[in-house]
Amino acid sequence: MSEIKKRLSSIIESPNHDTTDKLQKICHLLDQEIPYFNWTGFYFKNGDKEELILGPYVGAATDHTVIPFGKGICGQVAVSNQTFVVPDVHEQDNYLSCSIDTKAEIVVPIIKNGENIGQIDIDSHTLNPFTQEDREMLEWLCGEVAGIL
Ligand code: SME
Repeated sequence: MSEIKKRLSSIIESPNHDTTDKLQKICHLLDQEIPYFNWTGFYFKNGDKEELILGPYVGAATDHTVIPFGKGICGQVAVSNQTFVVPDVHEQDNYLSCSIDTKAEIVVPIIKNGENIGQIDIDSHTLNPFTQEDREMLEWLCGEVAGIL
């Protein structure tokens, strides 16, 4: 297991923190360790409503605290249930801009018992920065996070 996965696991398994604290610590760790992760946060489905609500995050404050299903990259992942890697956000028509500095984005769904209950969203100030390893690590992380939600 990679060093970052070990550190993420130890946050997830920690008996000393509640779930919100753990999600916040995960955001901090990813933000600190991966230089091209410039906004890292979680969104969660708002009960039975077809909208996402912003959860713990690290990065600039965003206007997008509520995102309807289907809107933006996040809203599309809420309905597709698939990871969405966007190497260049300027090529996307259905995109919600959080910061003029953002050039790329990756959103990975959190699936629990077959249901899409939320997602992790990463913005980058670098064009096309995300590697296959990043994608695999984030998909693994979302599987682990599903276990504590
Ligand atoms: N860019 C996202 C909105 C969320 S912010 O990046 C924090 C989107 O298009 O869904």
